[in-house]
Amino acid sequence: MIDVEARPHSATIFEHLKKRIPGGVNSPVRSTLGLIDVPMVAERGEKEWIIDADQYRYIDYCMSWGALIHGHAHPEIIQAAYDQMLKGTTYGITTEIELKLAEKILRLMPSMEKIRFVSSGTEATMSALRLARGYTGRVPIIKFAGHYHGHADFLLVKAGSGLFGLNGTSTSAGVSEDTVKQTIVLPFNDVDAFKKVMSEQLVAAVILEPIAGNMGLVKATEEFMTALREETEKQEALLIFDEVMTGFRVAKGGAQSLYGIDPDLTTLAKIMGGGFPAAAFGGKQPIMDRLAPLGPVYQAGTLSGNPVAMAAGLKALEILDRPGFYESLALKQRAFLDPIKEYIAKNNLNVVVQEALGMFCLYFGVKEVKNMSDAEKLDKALFKKFFRYMFDNGIYIPPSQYEAWFLSAAHTDQSLARTQSHIFAFFDSL
Ligand SMILES: Cc1ncc(COP(=O)(O)O)c(C=O)c1O
Repeated sequence: MIDVEARPHSATIFEHLKKRIPGGVNSPVRSTLGLIDVPMVAERGEKEWIIDADQYRYIDYCMSWGALIHGHAHPEIIQAAYDQMLKGTTYGITTEIELKLAEKILRLMPSMEKIRFVSSGTEATMSALRLARGYTGRVPIIKFAGHYHGHADFLLVKAGSGLFGLNGTSTSAGVSEDTVKQTIVLPFNDVDAFKKVMSEQLVAAVILEPIAGNMGLVKATEEFMTALREETEKQEALLIFDEVMTGFRVAKGGAQSLYGIDPDLTTLAKIMGGGFPAAAFGGKQPIMDRLAPLGPVYQAGTLSGNPVAMAAGLKALEILDRPGFYESLALKQRAFLDPIKEYIAKNNLNVVVQEALGMFCLYFGVKEVKNMSDAEKLDKALFKKFFRYMFDNGIYIPPSQYEAWFLSAAHTDQSLARTQSHIFAFFDSL
């Protein structure tokens, strides 16, 4: 049993961090604000474990927000990165490893004919939308409430997760009303609202998380997806799938392979970097060839296609491309979630599990979440208790009810069974 209040090294480090870094964190959700006073201060990771500065061990379901589908410090990925590091860590010059990773990704996600590498998911979505605007010559874009696409100004409107609860037209101070005026925010999975706007207005692009992981876990309905593809084709607007979270997770070919829909552009990050900062956007060749140096849409990056990240990413994709990888992940997930779902049903708890392969969410206080309005009805006080209970018992879940939990190939049956028994114990206490 870990006493969340008695982590002296973590507390001291965090006290000092707060003096040097705003809020003590380099990304807001890490701060566990409103949940526990001293957030997790990580010292190292091993497979499915995160070890904190006080040497407490936790089973990790945050997994660097989905980047680590092979678990922490996978030896083959570390070796690939190390081998590359011995040859240099960055050149700012084109390399063959970029070609290898590009070919691998384009083979796994054939809707993309060309790809460009960047360093973060934010950069990927921001660049994809600039490209969409440059390609179509239009400015307005459509996004959906509760979907997060990184922190570019024009995407910070009703942006889910860490931004829930912040006010205004934009969900961040410092973003001008003019910037977000061209971002039309619609309710997710609402076919009529979408069709109405598309009948009245020409847009450059429609961007979405096909399986939204920034309001827990909410899938697009088939009907909604079909409407998105048909309406964007009709007015020659681009359909952009933000697969930063879902790419190589929910299926080898991402959410697009599950829905059987080819988007015009796709954005990727997380898994494709093998735990290093790498991201990408890609799509149909005539669109991608509008990018500089071939076309007029400028986009660039000193560390883009960083060779260490490319080597790690390539190895991560090679591992998940091995026979049986996704089948085995699915078996783990069934063994873990099915009994939890049965328990909830049998005891008629006001809790629901929503899932896609490799990611899921346990919502408290509701029976179903279909969009952001449902997500806003969650029982936050109960989640706080749950988070703390799990933390005390050495289980680290994402510190927000609006974030998905991530399963990795490294999670053992034993760790999953232990997590399950703590979830049941918590349910029993309700
Ligand atoms: C769907 C989605 N898009 C974009 C981003 C932004 O990626 P990054 O944090 O690498 O900038 C995230 C981050 O979690 C995400 O989940």
